[in-house]
Amino acid sequence: MARITAGIATSHIPAVGAALDLGKTAEPYWAPVFKGYEFSKQWIAEKKPDVVVLVYNDHASAFSLEIIPTFAIGCAERFAPADEGWGPRPVPDVEGHPELAWHIAQSTILDEFDMTIVNKMDVDHGLTVPLSLLFGQPQAWPVKVIPLAVNVVQYPPPTGNRCYNLGKAIRKAVESYPEDLKVVIFGTGGMSHQISGPRAGLINSKFDHAFLDNMTKNPKKIVAMPHMEYMREAGAEGVEMVMWLIMRGALDEKVNEVYRFYTVPASNTAVGHIILENPRKGSARRPAKKPVAKKATTKSKTKTKIKRAAARAKVHRVRS
Ligand code: DHB
Ligand code: FE
Repeated sequence: MARITAGIATSHIPAVGAALDLGKTAEPYWAPVFKGYEFSKQWIAEKKPDVVVLVYNDHASAFSLEIIPTFAIGCAERFAPADEGWGPRPVPDVEGHPELAWHIAQSTILDEFDMTIVNKMDVDHGLTVPLSLLFGQPQAWPVKVIPLAVNVVQYPPPTGNRCYNLGKAIRKAVESYPEDLKVVIFGTGGMSHQISGPRAGLINSKFDHAFLDNMTKNPKKIVAMPHMEYMREAGAEGVEMVMWLIMRGALDEKVNEVYRFYTVPASNTAVGHIILENPRKGSARRPAKKPVAKKATTKSKTKTKIKRAAARAKVHRVRS
């Protein structure tokens, strides 16, 4: 049987992809962002999922205002990186998992979710930037990816409740797939950001931290949050965070938070990232394995103290 073992939420800022592609990750502006993903890269390299179900939104790259699917699942063999105006990103094509994707499409549609089946689609920064953050710059992505695009661009996006329930339906679908596959689900976008208009540049760290806390401990609280509250508190594009609830719905009610990272700013956005694991059946709750220790610099000593305190609380966090 296939299983969803963990969920990852992360921002999907296009400039982060450009920084990586242009070799700027060590620059003072970008270094703290990439440092925040070091643990995660090691974590996912150790977990070795067979398939990632990657929930993201298309930013008018594959779809336009002519066709606006609320939920669209990529069932193709391959997906090429989209040209978003500067040529496609120099990243590998994404290899899909058509059998599992079709199975999820069938199961969720019969469970009354209106899923659009997509057999040809280019994938934009919403999908490729999270892959880069978690897997770096390989010749080929080390995992098969099922793209799941959600409309959060044109009103009305799906409600948080619908997203959460879709997550549950995806889990049911995965668990009824006969092959033994380890599946990790990504929810991308956010956190607070507003790209245009008088409130451009808006960041609301208090809202973001509360959202991260609720993702782990009290998802029901955010499931009921109306779109207007996302937009008022976290900016017009902050509504991307409803997609995180698809990931959360696919996990157990009680999860282990193995990692959290938050930093401001990157481009126009507050970077938020969290890794949640389903507790292994029959095993006691265990803290995450620590990443390989780095030589401490004066600047990193304060962070080390925070990390140690977090480890004592059985949670590994970095907050900048
Ligand atoms: C930015 C963030 C996004 O999530 C996005 O889709 C586009 C731009 C930004 O911060 O610039
Ligand atoms: Fe976005």
